[in-house]
Amino acid sequence: MEIILIGFMASGKTTISQLLGQKLALPVHDLDDEIEARSKLRIPQIFRQYGEPYFRDLEADTLAATIHLPGILATGGGTPLRVRNRQAIRASGAKIILLQAAAGKIYRRLQKRSNRPLATGLSVQAVADLQANRSAAYEECADITINTGELTVQQTIERIITEL
Ligand code: S3P
Repeated sequence: MEIILIGFMASGKTTISQLLGQKLALPVHDLDDEIEARSKLRIPQIFRQYGEPYFRDLEADTLAATIHLPGILATGGGTPLRVRNRQAIRASGAKIILLQAAAGKIYRRLQKRSNRPLATGLSVQAVADLQANRSAAYEECADITINTGELTVQQTIERIITEL
């Protein structure tokens, strides 16, 4: 990969990766989509039937199989949690971009989508707590951190391109 996007659920990884791919004329991969394609199961179904540890194994295997492809990769919000994944991300040579957004904003975005098993019933405080738990793992990987709070999608893309 040339570029890997990391960050919390609903931080904009998928949207930004698609637009960045168009702008830079690079192929775009989404790790959750790859996991679903490989397992022939939807993410909520994987969590429900097999549990989170099984999902994390699938995620790590899919990351290892995908990371050498050319282009841009949007990871899942939990991908950097495993040491092995952080090492693979760091060793890939890609520019690693961390997208950040405030808990309140993430919370509101999470209300709109239902394909995230770990997001169901999360309060704003629970989002903030989970962000705090994960921030060290994210920051360990990141080359560039973009706080998307005050930025439009277009401005986020421009900021990334300037910082690449
Ligand atoms: C997860 C984030 C999801 C998906 C899975 C677990 C997480 O990806 O991989 O539901 O642990 O934060 P998104 O960040 O694209 O929602």
